[in-house]
Amino acid sequence: MPDIDLEIHLTDADLAAGLRADARAGLTATPKQLPPKYFYDARGSELFEEITRLPEYYPTRAEREILAARAATIARVTGAKTLVELGSGSSEKTRLLLDALREHGTLGSFTPLDVSESALRGALTDLRREYPDLHLHGIVADFVHSLDVIPEAGTRLVAFLGGTIGNFTPAERAPFLAALRSQLSPGEFLLLGADLVKSPAVLVPAYDDRAGVTAEFNRNVLHVLNRELTAHFDPTLFAHVAVWDETNEWIEMRLRALAPMEVAVRALDLTVTFAEGEELRTEVSAKFRREGLTAELAAAGFAVRDWWTDEADRFALTLAAAV
Ligand code: SAH
Ligand code: AVI
Repeated sequence: MPDIDLEIHLTDADLAAGLRADARAGLTATPKQLPPKYFYDARGSELFEEITRLPEYYPTRAEREILAARAATIARVTGAKTLVELGSGSSEKTRLLLDALREHGTLGSFTPLDVSESALRGALTDLRREYPDLHLHGIVADFVHSLDVIPEAGTRLVAFLGGTIGNFTPAERAPFLAALRSQLSPGEFLLLGADLVKSPAVLVPAYDDRAGVTAEFNRNVLHVLNRELTAHFDPTLFAHVAVWDETNEWIEMRLRALAPMEVAVRALDLTVTFAEGEELRTEVSAKFRREGLTAELAAAGFAVRDWWTDEADRFALTLAAAV
């Protein structure tokens, strides 16, 4: 079999340079914070896949349920020739869309885009075996900075699944949606998965599971800092924290220092001081309401055509047209 078709717009060196800048800014800020994209080295991507199978982590199952029920409609309405997937990871649920679009007879190519080269390579290796006739073209890129690398090829459907839109703050979401809209022509589509506001009794365990997989995923960012920046974090000295922020309607993941610490980050020539109990914010995972998300999409130039939820109303899948 030929090599997989992978276009690299973000090299390991680019990612490392970004990490240096983000870590310097975030670890010297008050409160301390890091962007969530650094979770996803090879180990982090594996841990995320493990999270999707946890009994407490309902979003993946809920979104799969919606996709299974609606994929044929999505294929008929969009008539997409190219499916683009942002933050594609393993593209596991995406197979429901690929199957429906092939069945409909329009699909020619699939372009998954992710910051994690290992996740993309793994997905493309499996997809090539499962869909030997489909043109597969992977892109390693950051969807915050490089949406202009999405190829122009027939009518496109851009899928952004899993609720990853929630990992932006509202201030980051608006420019992201506007940048995405500017890449599309009127009549092309966005399929957006968004987790919904619900009881903290359901939300918090989804981010603080009994088996401790999410805790390991959270601490993985410290392993990334140790490896990439020659830092000396001891991950066992940080507790995993998941809290529901009722005002912002997001889950916040943090790492709480269990003791006072001075941590050397050699590549930055920096020593980071933690007081006992001090927290480092590693992720927000915003939860949505129909009215708010529809308005945000409209402000970016997307008209919501469909809003589908799972039976239990936990998660929404929105089909929106570029207008
Ligand atoms: N869409 C999949 C995976 C979600 S996990 C699902 O629904 O299960 C989030 C994915 O987004 C990961 O694969 C991660 O590597 C990717 N990601 C996170 N930040 C990114 C960024 N800035 N640019 C591109 N990909 C990113
Ligand atoms: C990728 N993203 C939508 C996940 C989420 O639910 O916010 C990442 C995650 N963080 C902890 N568990 C899963």
